[in-house]
Amino acid sequence: MKLSVVNFGCQMNKLDAALVTSALKEAGFSVIEDMWQADVVLINTCSVRQHAEERVLSLLGNLKHIKESRGEIVVGVIGCMAQRLGEQLLEHKAVNFVCGPAQIPQIERLVTDALQEKRICSITKDIRHSEPANPELEDFESVYDSDDKAIPSQAYVRAMRGCNNFCSYCIVPYVRGPEVSREPKAIIEQIKRLAGEGVKQVTLLGQAVNKYEYTAGDKIYCLADLLEMASAVNGVEWIRFVTNYPKDKYFERICRAMADLPKVCNYLHMPAQSGSDKILEAMNRHYTAEQYLGLLQKARDIVPEIAVAGDFIVGFPEETEKDFQDTVELVKKAGYKNCFIFKYSPRPGTSADTKMVDTVPVEVKKKRNNELLAVQVKISDQLSKEFLGKTVTVLVEGLSKKPHLDAENNDDNPQLVGRTAEDWIVVFNGPENLAGNFVKVKITKTRPLTLFGKIKT
Ligand code: SAH
Ligand code: SF4
Ligand code: F3S
Repeated sequence: MKLSVVNFGCQMNKLDAALVTSALKEAGFSVIEDMWQADVVLINTCSVRQHAEERVLSLLGNLKHIKESRGEIVVGVIGCMAQRLGEQLLEHKAVNFVCGPAQIPQIERLVTDALQEKRICSITKDIRHSEPANPELEDFESVYDSDDKAIPSQAYVRAMRGCNNFCSYCIVPYVRGPEVSREPKAIIEQIKRLAGEGVKQVTLLGQAVNKYEYTAGDKIYCLADLLEMASAVNGVEWIRFVTNYPKDKYFERICRAMADLPKVCNYLHMPAQSGSDKILEAMNRHYTAEQYLGLLQKARDIVPEIAVAGDFIVGFPEETEKDFQDTVELVKKAGYKNCFIFKYSPRPGTSADTKMVDTVPVEVKKKRNNELLAVQVKISDQLSKEFLGKTVTVLVEGLSKKPHLDAENNDDNPQLVGRTAEDWIVVFNGPENLAGNFVKVKITKTRPLTLFGKIKT
């Protein structure tokens, strides 16, 4: 039986896709890239913006045609959209089964039943009131094996499940359930096992990973403790953590851990979402632009070489040109390495959708998106130029997916791509078998988001 898994969405989804793939491989499925040749297609979905859901629906439309022409293939929808839409998805002719994020441990049974022509929907009905400790999911985390990772020698490890922040625009708390921190022992054992399989970079995941908190007897573990424990694992060389919520509690300790522990990468992804206090309040973010910049200053005081990335939503309900300019100001002051900018997309059931009106026209959202991006590109360009002539350490991810025609140093080796500890993307020529290894690259040319260079031997 040939299996293909198509993944949408964030790192949390990438991890779930890897878990599901590992489990089904162990059950005897062979994994193939080309989903048009597969007997079983799993689509791991994202609900964060309408566009993400539209891409899945269009893929399902194509799969329906394939089914009509080629006969029976099994299509399963898993992930956040499965949780959001549940039974409704079974009405789609292409879909055989639906499996929510908390049901992935049952994936083998769901696929087997679906192969026997059963149509099944398995999701947690009342996810906000579901049991936070999930022993089945805990066990399932351990099936993750090293040859299923998109990037060799790197692995995601869940520190926390769910989210309790309820930012007014966001669907995640409704599809991923209540926030729960995993037991440090389980996390560290998982990291040790992965390190034993050759993993060199571990990324700890949580929707607001810096809120990690686990009480065991008298001791309360925070993310800084986890970073220290993970640092002690032999074989692991780089440790990252995403995403951070701009919050004071534990922030200084986490920054100190970054400064003191050489394995912890000097990289902070901390979305601001807006630079307008009025909008931040409407977003239910619980901080002002000034407080946010204060946190960044604190991080830079403790870790001067830190690279920071941000997320922004433009065109939130009632965002005026003045509010938007406050965001532009914040971006100018923050000195991000890069920013992810999104146009506000109303999500059914969120408070921004039920209590506010999507007032900003789509053209204005587009204009603000482009304007903010242009501001950031200038900043990224300046920051990247500082690398000219310097030598950086890169963890090689593999062949560059799209060829960079303006890259230098073209030799007989293919073009490779990797990242520095600060998350800068580096493109250079080298033998493919360097994937998963650390190399030193001398930077000879830069673009706003990419560094180009030559391997130092
Ligand atoms: N938990 C992470 C990421 C959440 S989703 C965090 O809080 O940082 C990733 C990004 O998608 C968010 O940071 C936000 O910028 C964006 N996003 C979330 N909901 C959105 C919506 N309804 N419309 C547009 N962008 C959205
Ligand atoms: Fe969504 Fe906010 Fe939770 Fe991030 S912190 S997942 S934006 S509710
Ligand atoms: Fe999308 Fe779910 Fe992640 S909604 S962003 S895949 S948690």
